[in-house]
Amino acid sequence: MLLPFIVLTVTLTADSINQLHADKSRINNAALLWHVFFVIQGHTMLMKTCTPSSVLLVCLGNICRSPTAEEVFRQQAAIAGLSIKVDSAGTGDWHIGHKPDERAQRHAKAHGYKINKLIARQVNDDDFRNFDLILAMDAQNLADLQALKNNISDNQQDMAKLALFSEEDPTYGGDDVPDPYKGGADDFEEVIERIESSAQAWIESWKAC
Ligand code: 4NP
Repeated sequence: MLLPFIVLTVTLTADSINQLHADKSRINNAALLWHVFFVIQGHTMLMKTCTPSSVLLVCLGNICRSPTAEEVFRQQAAIAGLSIKVDSAGTGDWHIGHKPDERAQRHAKAHGYKINKLIARQVNDDDFRNFDLILAMDAQNLADLQALKNNISDNQQDMAKLALFSEEDPTYGGDDVPDPYKGGADDFEEVIERIESSAQAWIESWKAC
């Protein structure tokens, strides 16, 4: 009399346990998928906040330091596998339409950087809207850029972040890339040395995130 009841109870209990295992496995799978989703999402968000998609290098004339920095930056980003739009401009208007200074071209070429095709231009309001990051070669360039940015009526948060080119550099951090225009060969060499070092520091900081 009791036997069918016991058989029924055992069968039902076994079914429940099987169901529980199936549910647990489904829950585990869902948890795993959510975990993978959050890891990928987190990584993508970090990439977005870390590596800028566009960088503008700025000096005074756009014929010595910033065109050199443009090519150095472009090459280093390519080597690092970072896809970044790179351009350069000057705060001044004297050299608009000119090729880089002959001395800058010569010294850059000796280090493997061809800048002879670049053409100088002046910074404009749209640069603050179109670039993620604008890097100034020296403190005066940075102050001039900040003043230009302050004069634009757009939301300041939506515009390019400004920084000194040497900001991330453990060797030259906080220094100007000195203006070589009235200098000699050593000054142009120093420009290349500092630019290579500071560009590498930015690239490393983005690769690390
Ligand atoms: P850059 O150098 O800012 O590195 O291009 C200069 C080029 C020209 C002048 C000043 C700095 N300039 O007075 O004409």
